[in-house]
Amino acid sequence: MAELAALQVLKELVPPELQTPRVGIICGSGLSGLATSLRQIVLVSYDKLPGFVESTVPGHKSILAFGLMGSGAGVPVVAMLGRFHPYEGHKLSSVVFPVRVMAKMGVKDIFITNAAGALNPALAVGTVVVVHDHIALPNLTGMNPLLGPQQDPSLPRFLPLSDTYSRSLRKLVFKAAHELSIERDALAEGTYAWVSGPTYETAAEGRFLRGIGADVVGMSTVPEVVAAREEGMNVLVLSLVTNAVVIPEGYKSVRDEVEAEIAGNPKAEVVDEVVSHEEVLALGKLKGGLVKSLVEKVLDLL
Ligand code: 6GU
Repeated sequence: MAELAALQVLKELVPPELQTPRVGIICGSGLSGLATSLRQIVLVSYDKLPGFVESTVPGHKSILAFGLMGSGAGVPVVAMLGRFHPYEGHKLSSVVFPVRVMAKMGVKDIFITNAAGALNPALAVGTVVVVHDHIALPNLTGMNPLLGPQQDPSLPRFLPLSDTYSRSLRKLVFKAAHELSIERDALAEGTYAWVSGPTYETAAEGRFLRGIGADVVGMSTVPEVVAAREEGMNVLVLSLVTNAVVIPEGYKSVRDEVEAEIAGNPKAEVVDEVVSHEEVLALGKLKGGLVKSLVEKVLDLL
């Protein structure tokens, strides 16, 4: 099994008391600041670990961090400070490889964070969404991370996903928010749409995803979630809304615009809005602290 080689290296580089983390964390774009709350921190660069590829996206570090997190003695955790995305050219099996290594290390609960665009107009930028379901068009159309022969026949061949997002972990986030006196609107529940990227959505695609019931959209997370469920882990996903997906109320006709110009009473010029990765990262910096304090508090409540 390919994971064993990575485990062997980790045995050499990580002190024994941190080698069996209870919780695994995957940090989303601009959300690796979470590592500042790790005590007795030990960092391992991905290039030392067989089977790990490289995070090539700005806002992602190619580092695996071990340490204790939460108050009191703390919970031993392992955190990926950068993740892998299929759009970087990584195979789906590479994207989920670290999740399989975490499973072999004994991780029971995995907390996955991401930056996402809001499709639901009720979700303000800066809101943290506790994901309770997903829509993964790639999974349904031939880009499922579990396609192919099973590496481990002891795992289920036909994995159910209707119970994917742990109810008890989701409840802990709302309990944590209460204990932290976080205002009600700062936290919501929703469905995450996974798209392959790297392009952002067109307006019509945004309308489509909203129409089929998604609240937020992003280019990550679902492959790791699927692998984590296959490995039997409990899954918690927090999406930080970094921007609103631009879904104009209706198509602004250019014919109307030209006809108005010809008639001598031009309308105000329409400028199509666009989203940028810089905007996504900036919001991560601004609101990363909220995600971090929620994760820390949930660890205390486990
Ligand atoms: Cl608007 N779309 C996608 N696909 N991913 C995002 C995003 C939008 N904002 C942050 N990540």
